[in-house]
Amino acid sequence: MKTRYEKPVIIKLQSGFMNKFGNSSLYTRQIRKDIAGVSVGELTKTHGSPLFVYDEKALRERIREVHGHFSTRYPNVTFGWSYKTNFLQAICGIMHQEGSIAEVVSEFEYDKARKMGIAGKDIIFNGPHKSMAALTKAAEEGAMINIDHLDELYDLEKVANQLGKKLKVGMRVNMDTGIHPQWSRFGLNLESGQAMDAVKRMVSGGKLELNGLHCHIGTFILDPNAYAVEVEKMVQFAYQVEDGFGFKIEYLDIGGGLPSRIKLKGTYLPPDVGIPPIDEYAEKITNALYQNLRPGDFPRLILETGRGIVDESGYMITTVSASKRLPDGRKAYIVDAGVNLLFTSFWYKFKVETDRETQGLNEPSVIYGPLCMNIDVVDEGSLLPPLDRGSRLIFSPVGAYNNTQWLQFIEYRPRVVLVGEDGTVDVIREREDLSDIERREILPERLAVGTKV
Ligand SMILES: Cc1ncc(COP(=O)(O)O)c(C=O)c1O
Repeated sequence: MKTRYEKPVIIKLQSGFMNKFGNSSLYTRQIRKDIAGVSVGELTKTHGSPLFVYDEKALRERIREVHGHFSTRYPNVTFGWSYKTNFLQAICGIMHQEGSIAEVVSEFEYDKARKMGIAGKDIIFNGPHKSMAALTKAAEEGAMINIDHLDELYDLEKVANQLGKKLKVGMRVNMDTGIHPQWSRFGLNLESGQAMDAVKRMVSGGKLELNGLHCHIGTFILDPNAYAVEVEKMVQFAYQVEDGFGFKIEYLDIGGGLPSRIKLKGTYLPPDVGIPPIDEYAEKITNALYQNLRPGDFPRLILETGRGIVDESGYMITTVSASKRLPDGRKAYIVDAGVNLLFTSFWYKFKVETDRETQGLNEPSVIYGPLCMNIDVVDEGSLLPPLDRGSRLIFSPVGAYNNTQWLQFIEYRPRVVLVGEDGTVDVIREREDLSDIERREILPERLAVGTKV
């Protein structure tokens, strides 16, 4: 058999380092031929490239696993699906089937959850900007509104007046849990007394009744202890409010922030070593509850975990359209998806897999997208074997934030498919075309091409 030509590669030997023959990273391949049992070739043949692919079985297993870590430790647990993490209807549908209520941060997301069939009472309404119209609608429909600032408190008093009834509301608080930078822009601060002042204002206004506390300490939290601090401070504050003003705090919403298993840029340890398992978080959180709650008191514990649930069920298949050698000697591959579709590439070091066996030595390779902008780098350096044009690269995990923060910039947004538990592939979002993009544009007649000035 004729062997394929393999380009010679000169590898500098460094004393103290393993050489070409002892360094397995030069030969190691990360190959993925299928996603959830459906071949990558088949997926792209039918649905094109680039392509987002979700694995329903993995998603359901993950939410059950994460929920199980909490519900086996505490009797009153509710998950609120964070729409901003992924608001594709099919994904939200799965989350709701698995028992999650909805967590939204805008009127748009609120409307989306209502359209999904979620009742107002099962929608947590967070966020720093809620219009009067949105607040009124949410209050009428009995949503769980978490007040972000005093102006919103005043707005809600007006809404209560309009509706002619006292409104039950929650309040977002922020605090020092040891996480830096502290997420202090959202909610009212505990340590400075701002949160307590807001409670007093509620009492004196006589229109609002505080029945819940909310806090979101940040995202991709790597220290489970931070949640223990959060819970302790929330419970203590809840009792101050209950004892001092007669309110009953029915829920403690501790927000999201659990990490997915991926290496963050700038971190040293691989995810298996650097990212604590979710049950460690559950243990810390529920221990803090038991240590601080009064006997027999089991307020509803709400979690709004986003990326920690959905991220790892999402994959992005891309196609190598060209390769080049950059002036600094690095190998570069151009693929058909860039930061327009993979927003999380700004802080994730994705897992990169190829769809086929390839001969030749690995070398550090840059992967960039089609945007014709210097920022469009999906991976600044992964060890890849020589890849032919048309090879597929599969990036993961991409299930969180990419289908909500993607941009219609330079390229159409591609199809999104879901591989069901029985292997059926459903299109859950169609590829865009020009009509989607121009649908809202208006070209004044006098500016049509060919019209004289
Ligand atoms: C209020 C709130 N809840 C939940 C989330 C989901 O966070 P994560 O994806 O880190 O779990 C966010 C994300 O920023 C948020 O702002």
